[in-house]
Amino acid sequence: MRKLRIGVLGSGKGSNFRAIREAIATGQIEAEVAVVVSDVEGAGILQLAEEAGVKNTTVTDRRYKTRLSPEVEAELVAILKQANVELVVLAGYMRMVKTPLLDAFPRHIINIHPSLLPKFPGLESWRQALAAGEKIAGCTVHYVDAGMDTGGIIAQAEVPVRPGDTAETLHARIQLEEHRIYPEVVARFARRELP
Ligand code: GRF
Repeated sequence: MRKLRIGVLGSGKGSNFRAIREAIATGQIEAEVAVVVSDVEGAGILQLAEEAGVKNTTVTDRRYKTRLSPEVEAELVAILKQANVELVVLAGYMRMVKTPLLDAFPRHIINIHPSLLPKFPGLESWRQALAAGEKIAGCTVHYVDAGMDTGGIIAQAEVPVRPGDTAETLHARIQLEEHRIYPEVVARFARRELP
């Protein structure tokens, strides 16, 4: 089977990108990361891509913080299409995805979110879970639609909240599960089991 071509979008340190790369290296995922794009110049994820020899670039828009303007998003689509990307993987990408990107990859944009959606959409969900006194937190891989963290759920993992947890310790425990389930979902796309 032809290898699935992935485009990874991220704004941060890129630990989920690293987990996906490692799963590709060990043969768990039959795919290739065609390009990594960040909206943050010098983001850790770009450095990781560079070290791994993966094509990478920055597409940003100083006019907005939480989205790209349609014109700039069209540039991003052009980069992804030029790299023959089939699946867009959001890995800590801190902007909402809009048109034209959504229309360019119907049901082929996925995201990892650090809560058991539909609980705690939005920012720093692990902090929200802790503040709400939850006993079980977790993470969710879902399709991306025009809403915030509202697309169809593909996979979830539960993570216990332990006595004495801080936002940092809980987030770290959630991230371990993210690094397990995100590569699993990408592997399912690569085997053409999804969508
Ligand atoms: C993760 O916690 C993910 O759930 C959220 O952003 C964070 C990204 O972390 N969407 P990293 O850049 O993959 O390390």
